[in-house]
Amino acid sequence: MLLCLCFLMYCWVLADPVCGYFLKNCTIRGNLSDPSNMKVLCYNRNLEVIPIAIPRKVSNLDLAMNKVSKIEKLDFKGLSNLKILNMPRTQISQVENGALGYLEALQVLGLAHNRLTTLSDYLFQGLANLSLLHLDNNLIATISSSSFQTLSSLKTVNLTKNNLYNMKEVQPIVQLPHLQELYIGSNRFTSFQSQEISNTSIELRLLDLSRNPLGVFRITADVLPYLEVLDIAYCGQLGRMEWDVLNRSFLSNVNRLNLSGIEMSFKRMGMVLQTVNSSLVHLRMQDLLNGSRLKAVQISPILQDSHNSFFSTIKSPTCVFQDLKELWILKLGSNKILTLNDAFMNGLHKLETLNLAGNKLSSIRKGEFKSLTSLKTLLLYDNQIAKILCSRDFHFLRTLDISCNYITYVNDGKLDPPPFSHLTSLENLRIFSQRHKGLSHLPINFLEGLKSLLSFQAGSLNIKDLHRNTFIHTPRLWFLDISKNEFTALTPKLFRPIPRLNSLYLSKARIQSLDFLIAANLSRVTFLQVSKNDITVVNETVLQSLPALTYLDMQDNPFTCGCSDAWFVQWMESDNQTQVVGAGEFTCNYPADLKDTKLLDVELQFCTVDLGLYCYISTTCLVLLTLVASFAYHFLKWHVIFGYYLFLAFLYDTKQRNKLTPHGCQYDAFISYNAHDKPWVLRELLPELEGKQVWKLCLHHRDFQPGKRIIDNIMDGIYGSRKTICVISHRYLESDFWLFDEQKDVLILVFLEEIPTHQLSP
Ligand SMILES: *[C@@H]1O[C@H](CO)[C@@H](O)[C@H](O)[C@H]1NC(C)=O
Ligand SMILES: *[C@@H]1O[C@H](CO)[C@@H](O)[C@H](O)[C@H]1NC(C)=O
Ligand SMILES: *[C@@H]1O[C@H](CO)[C@@H](O)[C@H](O)[C@H]1NC(C)=O
Ligand SMILES: *[C@@H]1O[C@H](CO)[C@@H](O)[C@H](O)[C@H]1NC(C)=O
Ligand SMILES: *[C@@H]1O[C@H](CO)[C@@H](O)[C@H](O)[C@H]1NC(C)=O
Ligand SMILES: *[C@@H]1O[C@H](CO)[C@@H](O)[C@H](O)[C@H]1NC(C)=O
Ligand SMILES: *[C@@H]1O[C@H](CO)[C@@H](O)[C@H](O)[C@H]1NC(C)=O
Ligand SMILES: *[C@@H]1O[C@H](CO)[C@@H](O)[C@H](O)[C@H]1NC(C)=O
Ligand SMILES: *[C@@H]1O[C@H](CO)[C@@H](O)[C@H](O)[C@H]1NC(C)=O
Ligand SMILES: *[C@@H]1O[C@H](CO)[C@@H](O)[C@H](O)[C@H]1NC(C)=O
Ligand SMILES: *[C@@H]1O[C@H](CO)[C@@H](O)[C@H](O)[C@H]1NC(C)=O
Ligand SMILES: *[C@@H]1O[C@H](CO)[C@@H](O)[C@H](O)[C@H]1NC(C)=O
Repeated sequence: MLLCLCFLMYCWVLADPVCGYFLKNCTIRGNLSDPSNMKVLCYNRNLEVIPIAIPRKVSNLDLAMNKVSKIEKLDFKGLSNLKILNMPRTQISQVENGALGYLEALQVLGLAHNRLTTLSDYLFQGLANLSLLHLDNNLIATISSSSFQTLSSLKTVNLTKNNLYNMKEVQPIVQLPHLQELYIGSNRFTSFQSQEISNTSIELRLLDLSRNPLGVFRITADVLPYLEVLDIAYCGQLGRMEWDVLNRSFLSNVNRLNLSGIEMSFKRMGMVLQTVNSSLVHLRMQDLLNGSRLKAVQISPILQDSHNSFFSTIKSPTCVFQDLKELWILKLGSNKILTLNDAFMNGLHKLETLNLAGNKLSSIRKGEFKSLTSLKTLLLYDNQIAKILCSRDFHFLRTLDISCNYITYVNDGKLDPPPFSHLTSLENLRIFSQRHKGLSHLPINFLEGLKSLLSFQAGSLNIKDLHRNTFIHTPRLWFLDISKNEFTALTPKLFRPIPRLNSLYLSKARIQSLDFLIAANLSRVTFLQVSKNDITVVNETVLQSLPALTYLDMQDNPFTCGCSDAWFVQWMESDNQTQVVGAGEFTCNYPADLKDTKLLDVELQFCTVDLGLYCYISTTCLVLLTLVASFAYHFLKWHVIFGYYLFLAFLYDTKQRNKLTPHGCQYDAFISYNAHDKPWVLRELLPELEGKQVWKLCLHHRDFQPGKRIIDNIMDGIYGSRKTICVISHRYLESDFWLFDEQKDVLILVFLEEIPTHQLSP
């Protein structure tokens, strides 16, 4: 029995409470009952081979950042459900023929940042559903003519940053029937000539040729009839590029053109623009023109997206924009603009996006943006603005970025007036800081008036505290980033006014405990980032108070790795709703002997098993006891009862002896006998006991008091005697007699004749 118990306990301790949801070196995420969602994450694990036993149902496999130099033929066997395979930065230089052929459902293949040099004939065989292929940042110089043959669904290919030098290599790609976007920037092409390519996909919409040393761009045939986006920025050889588009209609559909960084005479540039000007909506010409050449272009009606560096030299740009009545995006970033000089007092009524980032503006004055009545996005980051005072100009403003400016506050007292009180439509406010010292304090009513605010990014502000009323004006807040501050603790009340909060970024904020989340009622938070803090333990209640959580980032915290973390570890391994990023890398800080051990490698099972084990053992004991008891009862019933009475009598006797109070007995013994045995009693027993032993006996025929009820007489006789002597004969047994359950060892049985045991009642 004991052996059996031991065995059961052994089995219990061995049994792993987590079953099947854990793959060595990888994390499995997603919904097990819904394979279309299942992800296996093996990124950044120093793997040298593809892990074996990847679940076959997986639809998304991430092997980024490892050291798998070679993909072997059978590595992906059976993964016929896989839709996304992500393997960038994995040092791959070789893929065995047919190794990818098992992935018949694959749609996205990421092989960027590897060491591939050649795309061979059989490399992509079988990938009929592949639509997106990342091959950027490899060493590819040659593409075999039939390597892309079976990729009939391919839509986008990224071959940026490779060693391609001959446009003919690209021919197998451009002729794919559904190709839409081809990125071949930053290679070594020296010319782009239409005679080098033919049978181009009629769906080709985007061609990125930027940063190639193109000396020639020549189109003599209609090979890009449907091209809409052409990027040839920073092309040109030694500052020169020959542009030869024979017929204007060849590029007649191009509506976005990037000509940044190309040195060309102004006359030639005019010709280039003429070949595309009928359809163009976006033109980017950064780093292109300077000083005297620009005036002709800026008033051109085609100029809709301008990002130039010349404005700092213009003394009064008032007239610059007033004719651009249709302009809706204006980018004036990274210039040296000191003041706006009333540039936006007139015109630009349709402007929706204004980028003034990276200038030297020191203030925004009242009414300065008066004419921008449609403005939705205003980017002012990286200027020198010290004071915000937003006037009534911005009725429609949705996004405002004033990060990295010179705004600071000496305390968190109320501002009068509040800085954003008129921005009732503002949805996104960014005010994080990087280079400068930050706000230091966030005034209580800083956000007053922002009743539509959805997203507030306020990292690195060098603030230590947030008043609990900070967010009472922004009930719709959905996204909050207050990372990289020095809070150490936050009050739960801070979050009460923003029950819709979905994403909370709180990394690097010196937070020591997440307990403030318990009372914060963040029932809709799905994303929580608290990496790089000082959190040592995660309380079960905290995670229970975040029922919607699907993403948790707790990397780089100093975990204690004691039993207080056992629950957390078990939760990480068994929870199928929340992805815990980098869980395998969580490192212990205490106790000293576990320092730098991985949290998941610490043996904590004994902590969590405790309760279950105790329950188990006590249940087992109970069952065994019941078993033993019923066996005993069945086979040894009378012995047990007898033993029981004997035991009680023993106890009673001991007690009586301890009391040392004699009962005051009238008689030494009460004699119980059958009337038929009376002669023997009188002749044999009486003379012996009363005569020789000088006992005082109680005999019913002699000592019972007349007139008293017989039963009372018997009770008195028994209670008045020290012992009861039963004279046993066959007759005596046949008659009714009392079993005296008087808890005394008072019964003396005298057998008058030989009586077989079976006739004796136990
Ligand atoms: C996820 O976990 C919950 C509770 O632990 C369980 O009820 C549910 O069946 C699990 N789903 C899958 C797909 O394992
Ligand atoms: C898992 O998938 C099943 C079936 O698609 C769905 O009913 C269930 O709600 C999903 N569970 C979670 C946690 O997403
Ligand atoms: C897990 O990764 C280590 C290297 O980090 C490797 O030695 C080990 O073989 C891998 N285990 C499995 C099952 O792939
Ligand atoms: C390939 O895509 C088509 C259309 O989306 C789909 O019907 C087919 O099942 C896919 N093939 C595989 C093997 O998943
Ligand atoms: C293509 O690759 C380049 C270089 O890695 C990258 O910057 C770019 O975003 C990629 N483009 C697409 C559409 O994937
Ligand atoms: C282009 O297509 C034509 C007819 O469809 C074919 O004869 C020719 O060989 C193709 N050219 C290339 C380079 O594939
Ligand atoms: C340009 O091409 C169009 C259509 O392909 C044609 O009608 C026109 O004559 C061509 N113009 C020149 C100058 O070749
Ligand atoms: C060219 O301009 C487009 C936007 O019009 C932009 O997306 C692209 O990155 C630019 N190319 C380079 C090389 O800067
Ligand atoms: C645009 O093209 C038309 C002819 O289609 C021409 O008259 C006009 O001057 C061109 N504009 C520019 C700015 O080159
Ligand atoms: C700007 O103009 C100066 C002289 O006018 C010239 O030397 C310089 O190369 C020009 N820079 C660019 C980018 O065109
Ligand atoms: C917590 O939030 C939910 C909805 O997000 C709300 O129904 C509930 O009343 C709130 N509880 C408290 C205590 O504020
Ligand atoms: C978790 O936090 C709650 C509330 O603060 C507290 O009552 C409980 O004792 C904590 N549990 C642990 C294991 O620290």
